[in-house]
Amino acid sequence: MSVMLDSALHTAQSYSGTQSGEVGGVQSFDLHPVEEDFRETVLTCLQHQPKAVPAKCLYDKRGAELFVQITQQSEYYPTRTELKILAEHGAEIATHLADGVLVEYGSGSSKKIGTLLDAITNTQRSLPTYVGLDISQQHLVESCEALASQYPGLATVAICADYTQPLSLPEIETLRGKNKTAFFPGSTIGNLQPDEAVAFLNNVAQLVGPGGGLLIGVDLKKDKAVLEAAYDDAAGVSADFALNLLHRINGELGADFDLEQFCYRAFYNEAVGRIEMYIESLIEQTVTVGDAIISFQAGERLLTEHSYKYSPDEFGALADRAGFGMANCWIDDQELFLVAYLVACDK
Ligand code: AVI
Repeated sequence: MSVMLDSALHTAQSYSGTQSGEVGGVQSFDLHPVEEDFRETVLTCLQHQPKAVPAKCLYDKRGAELFVQITQQSEYYPTRTELKILAEHGAEIATHLADGVLVEYGSGSSKKIGTLLDAITNTQRSLPTYVGLDISQQHLVESCEALASQYPGLATVAICADYTQPLSLPEIETLRGKNKTAFFPGSTIGNLQPDEAVAFLNNVAQLVGPGGGLLIGVDLKKDKAVLEAAYDDAAGVSADFALNLLHRINGELGADFDLEQFCYRAFYNEAVGRIEMYIESLIEQTVTVGDAIISFQAGERLLTEHSYKYSPDEFGALADRAGFGMANCWIDDQELFLVAYLVACDK
């Protein structure tokens, strides 16, 4: 079962009949993305063998806060390394972005987008039009309005949509005829299975069109010990983040998970090049979730996330399958992380 992109559940998103609005200097569109039903998703996944939940179930309010805490742990190198690369190579990166349209997938990585916009300003180039895409209307509007007030004169468009599904940009004057570059930081591409990553990148290539770009953060293959520490930090924040799922299911679905009877496990599976994250049952037990009774064997695992790691060549090959060529890439001194600028090929 695919736990990441469930295309069958979604219908195509279009602008027909959609009203745009303007608040706080931000032009907004709401494509009314279909949000999955948490109860149905959880029950289906817990009754399936092997048990696995989509990673997005981890991000309730507390989950999102815990993820921010993960990014601040000394063992979790991706966030600070990506920021360092964007800051150090900002002037060169800016040459690809100025004057066009910058479409951020998952609006709100304000430090990262700010680093790019500052680099463009510092090189005396004109700011691009910023387009934020996000499934959460509230989060999207808040982050776009904050950006518009921080960068006066930045034309800002907010599109509430499910960016894991095929999507186009609205036919509006601010975007017409400009070169488009997508921005997908954070190495979130690694949370997709490789075939899903190709499908996703292909959707991005369609959105930016031939000659359009994608600036993307990718976590690199490295020493197993470094990887495993990043996903199982000494302070236990990664464990709290995963186990918060059980807490969420208890609160939202009236379940009776005893958190003392489960633990968190994270392993680097070197053969397939991915971190695998699980919640493991410490004993044989049953748990009630609404009307359903779910059994766990002692040692049985519930998969919460995969995080794929790539070599630069492997990522180049993946991008190529999706219709992108690697035009430029930047890697930190310790070779932990890659920021790539890809260009969509002519069909
Ligand atoms: C969101 N994503 C890029 C994180 C990662 O590194 O794969 C998710 C994560 N889960 C636990 N730690 C980090």
